[in-house]
Amino acid sequence: MAEPHISVLLNENRIFKPSKQLAENSNVNKWMASHGISSYEQLLKKSQDIEWFWGTVSKEFVEWYSPPKKVLDWKLPYSNWFVGAKYNIVHDALDRHASRTPNKVAYYFEGEPGDMRAITYKQLSDEVSRLANALKRLGLKKGDRVSIYLPMILELPIAMLACAKIGVAHSVVFSGFSSLALADRINDCGARILITCDAFWRRGKTVQLKVQADEGVRQTQTIEHVIVVRRTEENAPWVQGRDLNYKDLIATESPACETEKMDANDLLYILYTSGTTGKPKGVLQRHAGYAVNIALTLSWVFDLKDGDIWWGAADAGWVTGHSYIVYAPLMLGTTSIIYEGAPDWPEADRWWDIVQRYKVSVFYTSPTAIRMFMKLGTEWVKKHDLSTLRLLGSVGEPINPEAWIWYHENIGGGRCQIMDTWWQTETGAFAIAPLPIADLKPGSAVHPLPGMAAAVYDESGKPSPAGQGGNLVLLRPWPAMLGGLYKNPEKYQDTYWAKYPGVYLTGDIARVDESGFYWVQGRADDVLKIAGHRLSNSELESSLVSHAAVSEAAVVGKPHEIKGESIVAFVVLKQGSSPSEPLRKELREHVAHDIGKIAQPDELYFVNDLPKTRSGKIMRRVIRKKVVGEPVGDISTLMNPEAVAELDNKT
Ligand code: WT7
Repeated sequence: MAEPHISVLLNENRIFKPSKQLAENSNVNKWMASHGISSYEQLLKKSQDIEWFWGTVSKEFVEWYSPPKKVLDWKLPYSNWFVGAKYNIVHDALDRHASRTPNKVAYYFEGEPGDMRAITYKQLSDEVSRLANALKRLGLKKGDRVSIYLPMILELPIAMLACAKIGVAHSVVFSGFSSLALADRINDCGARILITCDAFWRRGKTVQLKVQADEGVRQTQTIEHVIVVRRTEENAPWVQGRDLNYKDLIATESPACETEKMDANDLLYILYTSGTTGKPKGVLQRHAGYAVNIALTLSWVFDLKDGDIWWGAADAGWVTGHSYIVYAPLMLGTTSIIYEGAPDWPEADRWWDIVQRYKVSVFYTSPTAIRMFMKLGTEWVKKHDLSTLRLLGSVGEPINPEAWIWYHENIGGGRCQIMDTWWQTETGAFAIAPLPIADLKPGSAVHPLPGMAAAVYDESGKPSPAGQGGNLVLLRPWPAMLGGLYKNPEKYQDTYWAKYPGVYLTGDIARVDESGFYWVQGRADDVLKIAGHRLSNSELESSLVSHAAVSEAAVVGKPHEIKGESIVAFVVLKQGSSPSEPLRKELREHVAHDIGKIAQPDELYFVNDLPKTRSGKIMRRVIRKKVVGEPVGDISTLMNPEAVAELDNKT
């Protein structure tokens, strides 16, 4: 998977320097000046004293109820930051702005049909408090969990913030996931309440989310109430007594609700993400360290200033939205955009129309979206005045230099630096990314951010020489580092800390070039990145084998010009079932039903056998080589080497 990128990236040596104006006026530059730091190099070096660095910046980005006694308590593999502090992220995200800049717009919301709503910090704070009071009235207490299954409408950040305000951990489930995926996540975290909506708009049609939510809740035991936001005029099914109408519920509540004073390391949220096994893992984030880390990175990397209009065009069902649509922009008192629908609806210029109308100045999206717009043609972009843009960003997967250059020229008009931010659900915040003072090379995420210590290791745990690929690792803890996996300490230890003692394994392959630029090439493990969304091979395989006709399945990724990777599935059928077109269709739909449409295999083949090791493990690596047409290498150690040739007899 990673190989095709290497040769392309090796040729990329163009350097894009920031303008003097951008660099000099940048937030990071001002911070350096006020701390006697004279260069980027010195900043990176000095910030390696992580306790000094994070302790110092914390004073500028958060307001404690009572200050920490200790910056870091590091007991491998767990880090506790700002120990002893009393804090709640909602104080910084909402309370302080509601009193100091009440009339500033927090979000401009635009629905897919074109409906709009602007909400100020004061209005947002009032509505969050109303919902928080309602949740308390329903009996929720600090430490409880609430699941949220909502599309990109204002009630999504409102619901997250309402939970956080009263010390309840939220678990947001992406609205594109299936009812089964929802049920799994509710069951894992034991949520008492689910917040969802009737339906939402996607490509001119409504998606019946409540129907899916009901189907999911039927397979759980802990949900006491379902709070339903009305987004459309659909007649959603209703369970008397259990279901509560959001609007009615909050109508009588007070817009004042005291924010719960939490311990710095109390749980803020659980966000499920795919690993290498079939079951998604619940990544934990805590209030204080997360807040400091996301606010600093957004301020320094995207350089947000008072007049900026920020649009992180992602979904808050993923970590990008948690950190950089909801919490960090609000902490910085920014005005952001939330758009409900498809990027190319009703026409291929919807996004650029939004950029023009709301005068977006800093814009953040994924390489998949950029490649899609590239393919749609520049005429859609040219119809709009994008001159308000001053910085651009990319996230979720490696960006190929060609897409980078297209983005730079056509969206950024040649004047905007592109911030390629490398991070993960587990890092919580950008870890490797440029700053406005950095030179850029298209396709590189540049350098680890201040306070971050990264390296590329070979198999034996030694740093790989310049230019050579290896495992990307993080050497020291950082404030938004995951607080573990929900109720699964063994998996936490095995996944991140077992390969190299004391060092965090990211699961990515990367290399560092002669000038210290990082080039992230893709996953090292069996995790797929489909349009920047993380799915695990085995999650898809377990869905396939749960179908009555399937005996064995292997799923691999194949390079795709827009989505980065596409999904290719190989299926061995049980005795009595035979390959057919209807069955192929049924199996693809089966996966969509189990996990969600994003997980549906692009190609699905029937085979007689799958290559396996002597211990019976399916050799995805060999299958992947076959799929991309590369030599499979030595297969003599396989239990069934003949199965490799069998792959050619696929139907
Ligand atoms: C994985 C994390 C981070 C928010 C969205 C995805 C890949 C992410 C980049 C980038 C190359 C990237 C990595 C990483 N990735 N950003 N700028 N360049 N690869 O979050 O679902 O937790 O996925 O996404 O493979 O490990 P996620």
